[in-house]
Amino acid sequence: MDKSGHLPISRRNLMIVAGASVASAAVPGSAGAQTPDLARSGAAPVSSKVSFRVNGATRGLELDTRTTLLDALREHLHLTGSKKGCDHGQCGACTVIVDGQRIVSCLTLAVMHEGASVTTIEGLGTPDDLHPMQAAFIKHDGYQCGYCTPGQICSAVAVLDELKAGIPSHVSGDLTAAPELTSAELRERMSGNICRCGAYSNIIDAIAEVAGSAA
Ligand code: FES
Ligand code: FES
Repeated sequence: MDKSGHLPISRRNLMIVAGASVASAAVPGSAGAQTPDLARSGAAPVSSKVSFRVNGATRGLELDTRTTLLDALREHLHLTGSKKGCDHGQCGACTVIVDGQRIVSCLTLAVMHEGASVTTIEGLGTPDDLHPMQAAFIKHDGYQCGYCTPGQICSAVAVLDELKAGIPSHVSGDLTAAPELTSAELRERMSGNICRCGAYSNIIDAIAEVAGSAA
């Protein structure tokens, strides 16, 4: 304490004190921090009913509201064609078609799709009656291990619908013109579907054949 009754404090000590205050406020449970919402973090799971059409059939489920559409399909409806690759929206293996649009089913909750129409790889064709895209993948060897293939095929079917609808992509030159069926367009549109086996060129050949072009 100096003669004036104040504690002597250096600039360095002042910075340490200020830093400690900020750190204290940032740590949950420490003085000055928000009280954690313990009730919410310990909340019991909540169930909800959901009904949607899957591959043409109405399916009703009662699910934990945190269930993804992918888990609802695989674990509850036992439609294991859709694959869980990353569970983070990064690989496309779980791609399904919902109300005409392709989505990654691992990134959406099942209860969000009340009344929707969901098409999985099982709904596109059967071994005796293949969808043209499935037949083209076989013809062009568009797979090796096959793990990504259901997602690739669902995505490819939706890509051709997007092209028909005139929806531009990142590589479309003229956003107001109908997109051209080029290799660049197909590769860009399929870029969300990763193939660890690297069957990309054969996949593009298969899609191009179904699209009726030599892209
Ligand atoms: S499992 Fe859904 S994107 Fe990979
Ligand atoms: S065929 Fe194996 S990951 Fe695509």
